Order: sequence, then C-alpha cells, then structure tokens
Amino acid sequence: MTATHHDVLIIGSGAAGLTAALSLATKLKVLVLAKGDLTSGSTAWAQGGIAAVLDAGDTFEDHVRDTMIAGAGLNDEEVVRFVIERAPAAIDRLCELGVPFNRESGDLHLTREGGHSHRRIVHVDDATGWAVQAALLKAAEENPNITLLPGQSCVDLVTGRNEERYSGSGRVWGAYALDEASGKVRLHTARATVMAAGGAGRVYQFSTSPRGATGDGIAMAWRAGARVSNMEMMQFHPTCLYNLEVKNFLITEAVRGEGGHLINPRTGERFMSQYDPERMELAPRDVVARANDDQIKRFGLDYVHLDISHQPPEFVKGHFPTIHEKLLGLGIDMTRQPIPVVPAQHYTCGGVMIDLAGRTDLPGLYAAGECTESGLHGANRLASNSLLECFVFGEAAAQDILARWDSFDAPPAIREWDESRVTDSDEEVVIKQNWTEIRRMMWNYVGIVRTTKRLERAKHRIDLLASEIADYYGHFRVTTDLIELRNLHQCAGLIVESALKRHESRGLHFTLDYPETDAVPVDTVLVP
Ligand code: FAD
Ligand code: SIN
Repeated sequence: MTATHHDVLIIGSGAAGLTAALSLATKLKVLVLAKGDLTSGSTAWAQGGIAAVLDAGDTFEDHVRDTMIAGAGLNDEEVVRFVIERAPAAIDRLCELGVPFNRESGDLHLTREGGHSHRRIVHVDDATGWAVQAALLKAAEENPNITLLPGQSCVDLVTGRNEERYSGSGRVWGAYALDEASGKVRLHTARATVMAAGGAGRVYQFSTSPRGATGDGIAMAWRAGARVSNMEMMQFHPTCLYNLEVKNFLITEAVRGEGGHLINPRTGERFMSQYDPERMELAPRDVVARANDDQIKRFGLDYVHLDISHQPPEFVKGHFPTIHEKLLGLGIDMTRQPIPVVPAQHYTCGGVMIDLAGRTDLPGLYAAGECTESGLHGANRLASNSLLECFVFGEAAAQDILARWDSFDAPPAIREWDESRVTDSDEEVVIKQNWTEIRRMMWNYVGIVRTTKRLERAKHRIDLLASEIADYYGHFRVTTDLIELRNLHQCAGLIVESALKRHESRGLHFTLDYPETDAVPVDTVLVP
C-alpha cells in the first residue's frame, strides 16, 4: 500500500488524540489513526464525568490536595497544579463544541465522587464519555485539515532505525500500521507523532476497559526507546457489575457519590465503616476496591451489594438513566434492589513518561492521555481526573508542536514494511491461548493484593511466553490479534517488573510482604 505523509500523525481518536488534532489543525495537516472504529477507546465509555473547580465554595488548592491524597503523594505537585488550573478552560472548550453537560438553573450540575472533598464533577447524565467523544469527533470530521482513518492497528513507531541510511538517531518519524481490511501494513510518516493510544486494562482478565485497551501505545513507545514509569499502579474500580453474561459494565462511582451504600449480602452490614469510618463509600478507589475484595474473599462471596434503593426512584432514574435501563434489561431494578458488584481493573496510572509539554524521551514523539505517566495521578488516580488529563495534555502537546514547528525536519527516506520472510499463520490458537493465559495470570498473581512470591511466579510465566510470542511474530504476517498479544505481553512484563521493584505499599500497589509506606515517595522508572 502506498505510504502517507502528513505534518503530524496522531495515534488514537479518543479524548487525548482528538483534542490534540483539533488544536494542531488550526495550522497543520493531521492524520488520526484508530484501531477498529473511531469510538473504540475508553473515552466513549466514561460515565461519571470530568473534574473541575467550578463551584464558588471550591478551590484549586482543595482539588490539588484531593488529587495528592488519592495519589498517596507520588504525584508531581507542579503537574497536578498545571492540570487542575486548566480544567475550567477545558470545560469551556467542550461547551463551545456543544457537549450538553447537565445544568441546574443554568449552572453546570456538579456531582460527587470518591476522594473529592467537594461536588466538582461535570457530567452528561451517566454517559459523559459518549457525549464528549461525539462532540470531538463531529468537530474533527468537519475540519478539512484532519484526516480520520479508522481500522488501522499501528504495529510499531518508525524511528531512525527504519531510515534507508540509518543515522543512529532515536528520532520518531511516524508509524507502521496494519490496514485491518486489506491485511497490509502501511507506512505513515510525519514530522511529529502524538501517541494517544489509551491504557493497558485488558492485560487483566476482568476490566471495565474496552476490548482494544491492550497497551499498544505504551509498548510501542517502550520498544522505540522511551522510558515508562509507575506501571505497577493499576487502578481497580470497586464497582463493576457482577453478571455472568455482561462482564465489563461499570457502575459509576457517582452512584456512591449520590448516596449509594456498599453492603455485605450475607450479613446485611454496611461494611465501609470497618475500613474508612470517616469517608465510608467516598474513600478513594484503592481503599474501597480493597474493602470489596476483602469482603468477597473473607466471606467467600461472589460479589457485594451496591444499594441506592433508599433514594427516591425518580432521583435514581434521573441521575443514572443509562445504568438504570441497562440493569432493567438484566432483570435488576436499581430503584428497588441492590446491584451485585465486584472490583475490576479500570485505569492504567503508569505509562510513557512525558513532561508538561507532552514530550517523551524521543525527539519527534509526544504522548497524551491514558498511555502516559505525566505525574498527575501518582499512586492512584482521583476519580474523573483522567478525561481532564487528556484535554490538558492533548492541548499542551499541540501547542508545543505548533510553537516548535519550524525546528522539525522533514522525514528522511524510510523503508516500507518488509514481509518477504513471513507467511500466514497456521496456528491462530497460539494467540488465543497466550492472550487468555496472560490475562488470567495477571488477575490471579498481580491483582489488588500482591505478594513477592506471586509476582515472581508471574515474571517466570511472562519470561517463558516471551520467546514463544517473539517466534510467532518473527514468522507470521501480523494481525490485530497478534499485535495486541505482543503488546499485552510487553505491558504485563513492565507491570510485574515495576511491582517487584517497589518494596512498600502505596496507593494501588499493596503487597503483603511490604505493608508499610516509605517516608519518601519515589517513582518506579524503567529504562529500555
Ligand atoms: P482512549 O479513549 O482509550 O482512546 C485510545 C485510542 O487509541 C482509540 O482510538 C484506539 O482505537 C486507539 N488505538 C489503540 N491502540 C492502537 C493501535 N495499535 N493503533 C492505532 N490506534 C490505536 N475517566 C474520567 O475522567 N471520568 C470518567 O467518568 C471515566 N469513566 C470511565 C468509565 C469506563 C468504563 C472506563 C473504561 C474509563 C473511564 N474513565 C473515566 C477513564 C477515561 O475514560 C480514559 O482514561 C480516557 O478516556 C482515555 O482517553 P485516551 O484518549 O487516552 O484513550
Ligand atoms: C466512574 O464513573 O466511576 C468512573 C470515573 C472515573 O474513572 O474517573
């Protein structure tokens, strides 16, 4: 297939990628690639909303403090301030794009979520992400400087190594992407590339993330030579629906924000008083997820109950129309009955290291959104700070590219993808087997509560799988499944390696072998 060239290549059409695209397109030609369809990322699934200080009684200081408390001090305070102070402007931009946020007497309605000391979550009912994704996509589709290309699974970044005359530089010049329809890999070059490929949630057996959250961006940047950090900080959401058919449906934290109680279905007890008597159900996510996990394991339960049926039915239906309808379809009326819930992986706090301008270690490569570790979240992301991070860093990366545009060289001659030495796979079962094995192993050995022994077992399994996957990748034509397996495996390795390096319990990393928290928080930085 013929190669493409654009000023800027963006990998990912979620909140981070499209925010960057819309700003860049004021001056430059932008290509946005997405795996599957343009709404396949996590953005479209976001429920709760976007955190921003908009209430007269609230302050930036309070939002900074809540973010640092949730992040167990591992956050970079300068970054936290940078993001939080830009939140109101980000919300204004979304309003201008037509996002129909809920309002009350003309003012934006603010809901509440765990870890927030104020009502501060702007939302569109309980389906904020869908409305945000639709507004960004509409604006991008209408912009003549933006080309949106779905159905493209990026395989790897193009670096100096792919130049016809290799200069030895780690400069990034774009990416190779599998065109899912034709099965051919195509070269896409650009002067600057923005990685916005989302998180790695699907590395776990149970996750709220969509199917494509396989850590492709983190793995591609790592293979190209960028450092990653804090990969052990995997967030588990306390309340994913427990249902044998519907495996990854989130019950938003806003249900607890609007008064929902967590109850042990066997004892009938509202158990959060045992774990965090002051904040109860509105404690940060790591605390509530561990509490749910503990109840489930100690009492041999399949799930715990989340109950908001004490609120008036109209209030529940009005606040949570999507969840209410979805549950009714499954035979649960949340206005009258408790909802069975379990913890599930939800968010990747670690990722590709970036600075305040979204720059990675590699010249020409920027990154934004869930695939990054910007310093905002630290050891545990505060609810609804993630979409906000996408808007702020998508914009920051775009502004830095625009400001430095004259210093970006045009790409040199780059080699096309070479598949002369590979054949079609004759054993797809290998991919399925390895994919399932990794996800189950990560859930069992690298989950909410960890031990060194279990982490070492996981490392052993990951090391064994490495040569099998490399061998498969070296011999067969790439498919999206193979690309994802290779990336899932790489991310699993990064998570386990990071977890083994942290000899303390902090935020989302809780290990029985090191239950104390060190006096000084230190990032886990992995260097390729
Ligand atoms: P995504 O939106 O995940 O987009 C990733 C993009 O990269 C997609 O377009 C995908 O196709 C593309 N991509 C991936 N791999 C490749 C590849 N190899 N080649 C080409 N393209 C690729 N956060 C909040 O702040 N508030 C909330 O209320 C909230 N609720 C959530 C509810 C759920 C169920 C989930 C799963 C997450 C929620 N989050 C929430 C988190 C938030 O939605 C995500 O962190 C955020 O949307 C990530 O945006 P992103 O742009 O970084 O990536
Ligand atoms: C939720 O609605 O509970 C998810 C919010 C988030 O992930 O920030």
